[in-house]
Amino acid sequence: MKIAFIGGGNMGEAMLAAVLEDGLAKPEAIWVSDVSQARRRALVQKYGVAAMAGNREAISDKEIVVLAVKPQNLVEVMAELSGRLKPGQVALSIVAGARIETLSKGLKHGAIARAMPNTPAQIGEGMSVWTATPEVTEEQKGLVGAILGAMGAEIYVDDEKYLDMATAVSGSGPAYFFLMVESLIEAAVELGLPRDMARKLVVQTMLGSGRLVQQSGEEPAELRRKVTSPGGTTARALEQFEEGQFTGLVKRAVKAAYDRARELG
Ligand SMILES: NC(=O)c1ccc[n+]([C@@H]2O[C@H](COP(=O)([O-])OP(=O)(O)OC[C@H]3O[C@@H](n4cnc5c(N)ncnc54)[C@H](OP(=O)(O)O)[C@@H]3O)[C@@H](O)[C@H]2O)c1
Repeated sequence: MKIAFIGGGNMGEAMLAAVLEDGLAKPEAIWVSDVSQARRRALVQKYGVAAMAGNREAISDKEIVVLAVKPQNLVEVMAELSGRLKPGQVALSIVAGARIETLSKGLKHGAIARAMPNTPAQIGEGMSVWTATPEVTEEQKGLVGAILGAMGAEIYVDDEKYLDMATAVSGSGPAYFFLMVESLIEAAVELGLPRDMARKLVVQTMLGSGRLVQQSGEEPAELRRKVTSPGGTTARALEQFEEGQFTGLVKRAVKAAYDRARELG
């Protein structure tokens, strides 16, 4: 597969590393364009891919053109690539908030895929939700799915509205999780645990609990009940979460992220 990355920052690098690791493309079939010379040099050295400053140059004869620049740089990138994509090429955007309609008009191109990945993609544990226009063939969808699948799990949806929802849940989700981790570490340190030990306890507990939900197939509420003996320590802690309206707080936070995603789009 021949792939161009427009923007070789955090997410661009995570994607190209995953694609190489899965053997979906050879290094010489990956061309990255980035305004930063330091980034270009680093990517060439680390992965053996080709890197250049010109976005138009990068896209020539590539099957997939990944747009991985920050939202504020998207307009200039679209202006540069407008009308330059050929019928057989698919533009795959991971730019948060950029709607298919905007991408399609900006690029003057019909075959567009839009994905919302998340940062655990950097270690192959990402969650990507994506969709594509009818102009994207089944074969091309297979390529897009393979690229996103190389970074972790992927779900295809046929309605773009789910992308704003996914942005609020899985896109921003790692930050919610890190806040929980931070808070638990702080609480553990306040109890008197050494910080290193607190970190180890918290991270392993989060990781193990996540895997348990995933592998047991049991409902999280059921798993929670199994930890909670009546009148015990967990029950006492959960009373505090309830008093602080934890579930309501999480719902409000996710709704706020969703509203913002829609606003940005
Ligand atoms: N981080 C996340 O959790 C996450 C999740 C899902 C989606 N996304 C989306 O992924 C996209 C990329 O995010 P990121 O964190 O990878 O950003 P990033 O690290 O800033 O990477 C973007 C790269 O593109 C370069 N660039 C800027 N303008 C350019 C241009 N006109 N042509 C070519 N390259 C250009 C930047 O160079 P300079 O730094 O020199 O400007 C930078 O190296 C964003 O749109 C974001 O919404 C991110």
